[in-house]
Amino acid sequence: MTATFEPRVVVVTGGAGFIGSNLVRWILHNVRDISVVNVDALTYAGTRASLTDVETEHGRDGSGRYFFRQLDVRDNDGVAQLLAGDTRDTLDGRSVPAPDAVLHLAAETHVDRSIASASAFVSTNVQGTMTLLDAVKVELDARPRDFRLINVSTDEVYGSLGEHDPAFSESHALRPNSPYSASKAGADCLVRAYVETHGLPCITTRSSNNYGPYQFPEKLIPYMIARALRDETLPIYGDGGNVRDWLHVEDHVEALWRVCTHGRIEDEVYNIGGRAERRNIDVARTILSVLEKPASRIEFVADRPGHDRRYALDGTRIRERLDWTPSRSFDEGLRETIRWYVDHQDWWQRALARSSHHAAF
Ligand SMILES: NC(=O)c1ccc[n+]([C@@H]2O[C@H](COP(=O)([O-])OP(=O)(O)OC[C@H]3O[C@@H](n4cnc5c(N)ncnc54)[C@H](O)[C@@H]3O)[C@@H](O)[C@H]2O)c1
Repeated sequence: MTATFEPRVVVVTGGAGFIGSNLVRWILHNVRDISVVNVDALTYAGTRASLTDVETEHGRDGSGRYFFRQLDVRDNDGVAQLLAGDTRDTLDGRSVPAPDAVLHLAAETHVDRSIASASAFVSTNVQGTMTLLDAVKVELDARPRDFRLINVSTDEVYGSLGEHDPAFSESHALRPNSPYSASKAGADCLVRAYVETHGLPCITTRSSNNYGPYQFPEKLIPYMIARALRDETLPIYGDGGNVRDWLHVEDHVEALWRVCTHGRIEDEVYNIGGRAERRNIDVARTILSVLEKPASRIEFVADRPGHDRRYALDGTRIRERLDWTPSRSFDEGLRETIRWYVDHQDWWQRALARSSHHAAF
């Protein structure tokens, strides 16, 4: 397919997080002559340690195509300066070029934390997205150019499916059940409103659950791997029958790039599914079996309030219009991911030490 948009400088917000760091690495490895500006507040979930190879290869002393700016997406002035190209890389003082695309991933992302306290979720996910939208509007009014804002969202905004329900299509109503998904749905609605009202060039993507390297070990798969490696029990909510559709993070970042370069603004939303529905209990059992630990480590605990039973995405739109389907097998991808966590214990132990929310360990 021929690209309809070829950005030269892209901002990735949340680029020090799980999907963001994989996206930054993928773009720099796969797209020639492009610069990437990683914009991240470095909360507990983000660390430059996920990109040390990228800093070496593409920072000032490498290809010079990678920039890092520590910035909160709620900082109006900082974001406005960033879009105007009037800012300095906090690492080495280089001038950061003005972008022609923003892939917006910065967010508070953990459902359990949103149940404990929702305010950071509304603040970063809703207010932060609005700050970015306002700044893009002001920037494009001042310096009109071909531009894209890709708003990275989640299947969780659609709510929960029953066992035999058809998968969610992009036109399904938004019925978020957790404060996290409600805040993401709020951001999605703002993006839609800025497209309709101000003609902003935005597209929203909604992906299913990601897994792969550099995921903070509070999320299901790395959490279970870390606990298994520590010979601890694997707590499973409810009866373990909740179903998630799993997408390898490298498939996701390829899809995001496809949407950025080939996506149509009039399509508004693209689902990005993994075509790999699995019950949580089966994921936990596989992790124990690959690590040669006894299945008796599984411990059923009281269910999460408002726990969505099943997610599944209809990926027809992105397949038919952008010629994209996921290519990695879940069973192989999960084994590779387990091996990655076995080989990178320093990375996840340090991640946990940064977090104030690891009482479960
Ligand atoms: N992980 C998944 O399975 C999944 C699935 C669908 C959609 N998403 C969406 O993809 C995006 C990335 O998810 P992830 O799993 O990589 O998350 P993550 O928690 O690993 O990373 C989030 C990043 O955002 C940064 N951040 C948080 N608040 C910020 C702020 N106010 N300003 C600037 N930076 C800030 C953090 O420092 C961190 O680096 C999120 O928008 C999430 O909702 C994730």
